[in-house]
Amino acid sequence: MERVSLVFGGSILAPAQLDPDFLTRVADSLTTWAKDRQLFVVVGGGAPARGHIQAARAAGVAEELLDRIGIAATRLNAQTLACILRKRGADVNLEIPHSTAQAIRFAQQHTIVVMGGSNPGHSTDHVAVELAVEAGCDRFVNATNVAGVYTRDPAKHKDAQFKPKLTFEELLGIIEERAWTAAGAPGVMDGPATVLLAKNAVPTCVVDGRDLANLGKAITGQAFQGTRIEGPKVKL
Ligand code: UTP
Repeated sequence: MERVSLVFGGSILAPAQLDPDFLTRVADSLTTWAKDRQLFVVVGGGAPARGHIQAARAAGVAEELLDRIGIAATRLNAQTLACILRKRGADVNLEIPHSTAQAIRFAQQHTIVVMGGSNPGHSTDHVAVELAVEAGCDRFVNATNVAGVYTRDPAKHKDAQFKPKLTFEELLGIIEERAWTAAGAPGVMDGPATVLLAKNAVPTCVVDGRDLANLGKAITGQAFQGTRIEGPKVKL
């Protein structure tokens, strides 16, 4: 059976005001896509992660502890989505895994496995890439809040150019930093996740996760609007 690893940016699933109608539509879409494939769904931290990290940072908490707060937020969002999926009748785990190895074990029992963050030092993008590599997924889909990969952050730079197609080598040239920068750091894909992706050359789709019809095309392997990343492995 086909396997797909999906990361859902927290800014879409968990904005400051959660939208139960959108979450229900996401759950129903995931259920449909999982009819003939195994889905790993990794949920980002969104507004709760940013809010709590900011407050702790302002209170003087050391940077190396802030990731823990982010992980807790991603797990809260993952638990919320898992419960809504179960309510909508999906075959999904209710216990949120603490590691990708545990998530892969859960996949023996459930067609949809939902998780959040795992360890400090990276974002949920990295967790989903790890799952894609370790579970031998056919593709990795990054559902984000922009149309795909741009040469620069389109929210900040008017001259940012959209890239419909990239190699892993080209993607490495676009990201600003290969190392982990800071808890809650923005950007279409974090550095450690990009490095892992490029080393393993998992076929990748970056799409706007708010458009569920288009996201479905990426997940089911059809032509989609967004960025397709493929090509040879990069030696790093
Ligand atoms: P994300 O950055 O993955 O969530 O996790 P997000 O809000 O969805 O990000 P966007 O919208 O995709 O950009 C939030 C924070 O949780 C910590 C990091 O500090 C991260 O910035 N985290 C998350 C970890 O330390 N490890 C993980 O495995 C996941």
